[in-house]
Amino acid sequence: MTDQTATPQSFSASVPLRGQIAIPGDKSISHRALMLSALAVGTSRVTGLLEGHDVLATAAAMRAMGASIERREDGEWHIDGVGVGGLLQPRQALDMGNSGTSTRLLMGLVASHPITATFIGDASLSGRPMGRVIDPLGQMGADISASPGGRLPLMIRGLAPAVPLAYRLPMASAQVKSAILLAGLNTPGITEVIEPVPTRDHSERMLRGFGADLTVETDGEGTRHIRIRGEAELRPQTIIVPGDPSSAAFFIVAALIVPGSDITIANVGLNATRAGLVGVLGQMGGNIELLNAREVGGEPVADVRVRHSTLTGIEVDPAVAPSMIDEFPILFIAAALAQGRTVTTGLDELRVKESDRLAVMAAGLRAIGARVEERADGLIIDGSGGDSLPGGATVAGHLDHRICMSFAVAGLVSEAPVTIDDIAPVATSFPNFEALLAELQQ
Ligand code: S3P
Repeated sequence: MTDQTATPQSFSASVPLRGQIAIPGDKSISHRALMLSALAVGTSRVTGLLEGHDVLATAAAMRAMGASIERREDGEWHIDGVGVGGLLQPRQALDMGNSGTSTRLLMGLVASHPITATFIGDASLSGRPMGRVIDPLGQMGADISASPGGRLPLMIRGLAPAVPLAYRLPMASAQVKSAILLAGLNTPGITEVIEPVPTRDHSERMLRGFGADLTVETDGEGTRHIRIRGEAELRPQTIIVPGDPSSAAFFIVAALIVPGSDITIANVGLNATRAGLVGVLGQMGGNIELLNAREVGGEPVADVRVRHSTLTGIEVDPAVAPSMIDEFPILFIAAALAQGRTVTTGLDELRVKESDRLAVMAAGLRAIGARVEERADGLIIDGSGGDSLPGGATVAGHLDHRICMSFAVAGLVSEAPVTIDDIAPVATSFPNFEALLAELQQ
């Protein structure tokens, strides 16, 4: 899973992007579909599963803990679960690769099972903070020995029965919320997550879909109280995974900034807790149409038509950050091509993603000739007004798929090619990114 050989890749000024594409399945939903199916009793079927390295790491871990998971030739995945409470002791360390979501959510599952698991990951993942899940899961009774700084490698010994908890999230994190709810599945009584700032709600939707007793109440202050009753019994499901809006984001911005472009991206998930980027780009003057809005697998979906547009810089409201938390790297590229100044604030969480996305984006943007100022909690970018960027530099991707794809898109509007030092990380979330780009360039 951990690839040590770097594969540089260059991206240069593009012809207009045209045509229709479908993007791969949503990463967050794919992880959850595998985990919950692996805990149901009986066979679940999943279509549209994202077959990126991160999700495959989750599949391998669930197999190591007893689930049977198979991909059929037609692309449908069949999962035979072990039942809540039935996870088996894995015989080897669980290799999470680059995936924070796999790590934190699976730690939640292990925390309330009578098993011990060791989690390891690549250099990026091993630098990311796990204290945010160690703390609540420890309060539920799990015994966790982490590397210094609360990092991977770490070992977690679950407790069954675990102790139910009411926990107020100290930061906006769907991963922390989900880790606690998943631990709550096998914990007798009510486990409650108190969420002052709403984050993606795929766990809540899917847990209910699988038959868990889960309620969400919003109090007078707008704080969400999510309560799950354990020990739950999950019923197998048939799941259709919608296209990932965080992957669509790269082509949405590419079409907005490459002159003459007009593309349609089919079947994009547009759950309100994920769709912030579309609104922000709309405020900047982006011509984005949502067509054929519908529901797929309990999630709102639409086809997204995007045409080249003159963008104008704005001050991005920090309140929208959680609904586009993974889209800031590509928004910064859009801002670098806009007219005037874009100001972003309230983005401290970007510093603990697959890389420090504020520092890494600022360094890369500077290297390709954009004007950018890095602040503690955001970037200020003065755009080119639609003119090409100079480009002509090699950008360090720091094992961060979204950094790599963002600078690939920047290369499409640069005078001299932009080289990504290692393109391999793209396969964690979007294995056919380059193939789809080539399709739109024909
Ligand atoms: C995710 C939650 C977000 C996001 C990540 C996927 C999830 O992380 O950045 O890519 O699937 O729950 P945080 O919970 O750290 O914000």
